[in-house]
Amino acid sequence: MIDTVAIEVQKVAQSRISELDENNIPFARIYSDHMFVADYYDGAWQDLRIIPYQSLPMSPANMAIHYGVSIFEGMKAHKSEDGEVILFRPERNAQRLNISAERMCIPEIPEDLFMQALTDLVGLDSQWVPSKPNTSLYIRPVVFATDEYIGIKAPERFRFMIITCPVGAYYSAPVKVKIETSFVRAVEGGTGYAKTAGNYAASLYPAKLAKEQGFDQLVWTDGKTHEYIEESGTMNVMFIIDNVLITAPTSGTILNGITRDSVLTLAKEWGVTVDERPVRVAEIVEAARQNRIQEAFGVGTAATIAQISAIGFEDEVFELSEVANRKFSHKVLQTLDEIKTGKVEDKFGWTLKV
Ligand code: COI
Repeated sequence: MIDTVAIEVQKVAQSRISELDENNIPFARIYSDHMFVADYYDGAWQDLRIIPYQSLPMSPANMAIHYGVSIFEGMKAHKSEDGEVILFRPERNAQRLNISAERMCIPEIPEDLFMQALTDLVGLDSQWVPSKPNTSLYIRPVVFATDEYIGIKAPERFRFMIITCPVGAYYSAPVKVKIETSFVRAVEGGTGYAKTAGNYAASLYPAKLAKEQGFDQLVWTDGKTHEYIEESGTMNVMFIIDNVLITAPTSGTILNGITRDSVLTLAKEWGVTVDERPVRVAEIVEAARQNRIQEAFGVGTAATIAQISAIGFEDEVFELSEVANRKFSHKVLQTLDEIKTGKVEDKFGWTLKV
């Protein structure tokens, strides 16, 4: 329960917006002027405030840094041609945050609190939403335990924050992925479906090894048999083979991607055959060997639609079809971009003007 959705605002004395070069925006290196903060104690979210972006004082016994009690979301705001700021499916992020929260013993963030905090913050920092093609304001809600306690127990104190940063492309070129068959990201009953810090922390070492072998990212396989494709490190993955769009169903081990859902919705709308089913590594490798993979791409908020140019499996690397010739993934990227920037009618009700 929240006491009130009234949010106190303390503005910066001087904006840092002049540090932003709209023609050269790296991913997540410059953060916008303000951040939202709320604290949970005595059983309620309290002290809702928007303050200048700043570092946090923190107890060295903070439970989140010892045990990883931390969850987050990734979302974006875009600017339309006439300067309006548009959010994409924000209520889905609010819902998914609470799914992650339950798994990590974090109290629910009421959706009205989430939406108020989000729209107040993005509205205040609207000049930070870039307008050049392929740029946006990346929004990072995060919730973590703040108990000063290093025993193991469900925490009682938490902080919810939202920070934002203007971003360009996450991947500046098509990615080479490696199908991972030794390390594991998630198992049934684990935290795979939750957007929790530890999932990403545990992926860094296998991803580093893959990088040393010349790959940009991993494609995770199921934790039990390594026979089925799950998701990539930063995105869900999709393939078009024999004119069918194939992707793994979301489950306890796969993140329920909002871009994933949007792409599948558009594909169905356009009459593309969609097959959401367990995807065997063997069928992808066989199709790659026979040059039958028409398209392969990752889908995610940060990554948008990221073309996959090559797939590594065991000792082989398969170069895939010419990226420029891939019709569906280019069309879906363009259409999503047009919806997000208000260029075309949003018939799915996905956008929210701030
Ligand atoms: C996002 O796509 O928003 C994510 O959270 C992925 C992250 C690893 C950049």
